[in-house]
Amino acid sequence: MSEGGTRPEFDGLVAVVTGAASGIGLATALELAARGATVAAVDRDTAGVPEPLHAYECDVTDSAGVARTVERIAADLGGIDVLVNNAGIGAQGTVADNDADEWLRVLDVNVVGIARMSAAALPYLRRSGAAAVVNTASIAALVGLPRRAVYTASKGAVLALTRAMAADHVREGIRVNCVSPGTANTPWVQRLLASAEDPEAEAARLAARQPTGRLVEADDVAQAIVYLASPRSGSVTGTSLSVDGGMAGFQLPS
Ligand SMILES: NC(=O)c1ccc[n+]([C@@H]2O[C@H](COP(=O)([O-])OP(=O)(O)OC[C@H]3O[C@@H](n4cnc5c(N)ncnc54)[C@H](O)[C@@H]3O)[C@@H](O)[C@H]2O)c1
Repeated sequence: MSEGGTRPEFDGLVAVVTGAASGIGLATALELAARGATVAAVDRDTAGVPEPLHAYECDVTDSAGVARTVERIAADLGGIDVLVNNAGIGAQGTVADNDADEWLRVLDVNVVGIARMSAAALPYLRRSGAAAVVNTASIAALVGLPRRAVYTASKGAVLALTRAMAADHVREGIRVNCVSPGTANTPWVQRLLASAEDPEAEAARLAARQPTGRLVEADDVAQAIVYLASPRSGSVTGTSLSVDGGMAGFQLPS
């Protein structure tokens, strides 16, 4: 926020956030707006998108819809400077549990969705003096987790894609980074808890699994995304920032 007469960090910049109707995406969109950005909140269901966000209903698996939506955002809001590719879906099971249709469904949202949005936004990002892309990966990209084969493969691809995009576009003045959140207290995890036999015990188990003793909050991740997206982070590109309460970095003695 503006202090002592300085301009807000994202003043005059347009940010696009996918999956912005809920959880990490919503917290990120609101934080970007609070720091001065004009924010397009893209989601397949925009019912929960509050002011001052500009809601755009779009499914990231629909190539023509993505192209149309990105063009409309740039025309309505005056360009695109920041793209946060955050829309994602989960999947449970080992390689033996998920059929090919499930693989394609998850990869289509979590990986190809990022490619579609990024390709459509590139012409506008190239014209920006503060261009940044931030992808939402996961701790699953860094640490093997049981019964998450499809999801983990998709997030490993997000991490690798982030580095490849960073290399492709660095000389065009576009920075590309990702965040790798641990288990975050969002509607997604609330849905998982609700389906557990004993939701309270499961919530306590998940919190105890974290070195910090608590789940990651959506706002913890939003702060990291906004840092990576900021024009003040001009030398940060091709990196993954873990926001996982320490889970990927170390183990406590048991
Ligand atoms: N919650 C966690 O524990 C956790 C941990 C690591 C990574 N992540 C990642 O963070 C991101 C956000 O997760 P969240 O926990 O905030 O989930 P969430 O379910 O609360 O929000 C996800 C949003 O994405 C939207 N979305 C899903 N598919 C879409 C599509 N095809 N097109 C457009 N919008 C679509 C949903 O409508 C929803 O509003 C995801 O990429 C997820 O993989 C979450």
